[in-house]
Amino acid sequence: MATSLEVRGVSLRFGGVRALTDVSFAINEGELFSIIGPNGAGKTSIVNCISGRYKPTEGQLFYQGRDITGLTPNARPKLGIGRTFQNLALFHHMSVLDNIMVGRHHLLKNNFLTGSLYWLTGARKEELVHRRKVEEIIDFLDLQSVRKAQAGTLSYGLRKRVELARAMALEPRLILLDEPMAGMNFEEKEDMARYIVDLNEEFGMTVVMIEHDMGVVMDISHRVMVLDFGRKIADGDPAAVLADPHVRRAYLGEEDEALVDPDDAPSVQESAA
Ligand SMILES: Nc1ncnc2c1ncn2[C@@H]1O[C@H](COP(=O)(O)OP(=O)(O)OP(=O)(O)O)[C@@H](O)[C@H]1O
Ligand SMILES: [Mg+2]
Repeated sequence: MATSLEVRGVSLRFGGVRALTDVSFAINEGELFSIIGPNGAGKTSIVNCISGRYKPTEGQLFYQGRDITGLTPNARPKLGIGRTFQNLALFHHMSVLDNIMVGRHHLLKNNFLTGSLYWLTGARKEELVHRRKVEEIIDFLDLQSVRKAQAGTLSYGLRKRVELARAMALEPRLILLDEPMAGMNFEEKEDMARYIVDLNEEFGMTVVMIEHDMGVVMDISHRVMVLDFGRKIADGDPAAVLADPHVRRAYLGEEDEALVDPDDAPSVQESAA
């Protein structure tokens, strides 16, 4: 299987704070890979290193075999790496449609100047292609009924979905999702989980997802990595990872409580007992 992303010995420091220490892992093309860990474990930091927002203090990152460690965040979309943010980053006064169009910005060949030669150049045709692609994503994420609505007026769950739409609009091969279900109710979470599985399976996007909801992580991930105090403490099959005593300690201290609700994962409970 081809490797999508390889993270090799990445450390990240902010002054005295060690956000990440010697983290290594690799993700295969087509994989749905989840990153879990307690608050402050370094999950967002590693995703920010992949997206180029943070530059590792040490170590390297390779995307499709190419060293991307020193590339700027703006270079990522062109390579096919897209992302959503832990805190919503939509343009609240713009329509859903326009918010999604923003996601295609880097794909626009025609800039402002050539755009003014609208009818003479290929700009009009290009715009049609973009609109069609955006409509496809709107259909896929069931956003038809709110396409003209101002993003800021939508419910939290819908806004998270619009943000996913915008990330999808740049047609990434690798998509980074930072807590796509945070703050959602049960139904919204179920919907979002289904969209993520579908964009992985139908659109063939490789997914890196940070998520706190263990039920969802167990359900949809192909593989799970656990960070704790900036270090990787486990990486593997979801059920095996959650049964790992190290992982259970990271979440529970020394207490012998259930990590996952027994109704959600009885087999993990038994094997870890
Ligand atoms: N820009 C920054 N400046 C200083 N310290 C930072 C910065 N970003 C992250 N940190 C620190 O790095 C550590 C890891 O933070 P990070 O946001 O990656 O954790 P997380 O696992 O995403 O946590 P959460 O589950 O709360 O989102 C924390 O101690 C945090 O305070
Ligand atoms: Mg975070």
